[in-house]
Amino acid sequence: MQSALGLHSSTNLVFGSRKGVPCVVRAHVGAERVSIDVQNVNLCFQKDSNVLPILKDCCMSIPEGKLWMLLGPNGCGKSTLLKALAGLLKPTSGKLYVAGPKSFVFQNPDHQVVMPTAEADVAFGLGNLDLTVEEVRCRVMKSLEAVGLLELSQRPVQTLSGGQKQRVAIAGALAECSKVLLLDELTTFLDESDQMGVVEAVRRVVSGSDGVTALWVTHRLEELDYADGASYMENGHVVLGGSVAKVKKFVLEKQEEYKRSISF
Ligand SMILES: Nc1ncnc2c1ncn2[C@@H]1O[C@H](COP(=O)(O)OP(=O)(O)OP(=O)(O)O)[C@@H](O)[C@H]1O
Ligand SMILES: [Mg+2]
Repeated sequence: MQSALGLHSSTNLVFGSRKGVPCVVRAHVGAERVSIDVQNVNLCFQKDSNVLPILKDCCMSIPEGKLWMLLGPNGCGKSTLLKALAGLLKPTSGKLYVAGPKSFVFQNPDHQVVMPTAEADVAFGLGNLDLTVEEVRCRVMKSLEAVGLLELSQRPVQTLSGGQKQRVAIAGALAECSKVLLLDELTTFLDESDQMGVVEAVRRVVSGSDGVTALWVTHRLEELDYADGASYMENGHVVLGGSVAKVKKFVLEKQEEYKRSISF
């Protein structure tokens, strides 16, 4: 289903197989319950007669109930991976598991808030569900509260900042009971205070929820401080994943290496 609040799907996505063998859902890795599991995923784009490999044997597991950040240089395949997780792109091979329901929130806040007020916009996404008026009201209020926008529920959306619009979109996903939020560079177009408002709202949502997992794509190293863990991608696959401290150290070393390479 394509809602006004980005792509929302109520089904778990289990995708891919090698040689036609049905894949096994990895909802656990070891003893840990995971919300996202990517196993040896390859994904190619076709350009004229050329096949362009974009995701290359990509692997990543994200534990349930965590805010996980995905970093990497421009063009390494972060958005492609996120779109594959959302079900918008089909891997060539490998296995994907995403707990459901899941929602994808896009980069540009103006592309996803369509109704006149925050409250109406969040309610709009519930239109296809068989809910009573009271149930809709309750979900809308709870979701707006979760992202800190309850007081702005009646404000015309054109008076909201970009970050507030992103939070309306996230509230929409929460109202639809999404268990996985796929968030692609939500803060790109935002100023610093708006940026922090969004990342703090997602942090609160994940911490205050029963098992909501957020995968947050970013280039901004300072956002890592809000995460429970992170992965770093290069050239179509994840080269490092784990604690924020480990990934941050790795990125800072990369930046130093790059600065040295251009200082001659
Ligand atoms: N529809 C497409 N057809 C052909 N190539 C594509 C298509 N979409 C993306 N690509 C290419 O795939 C590669 C990965 O793109 P992707 O958008 O996933 O990177 P990214 O890591 O999200 O980059 P950024 O940090 O700039 O957002 C890039 O080389 C891009 O040009
Ligand atoms: Mg991208």
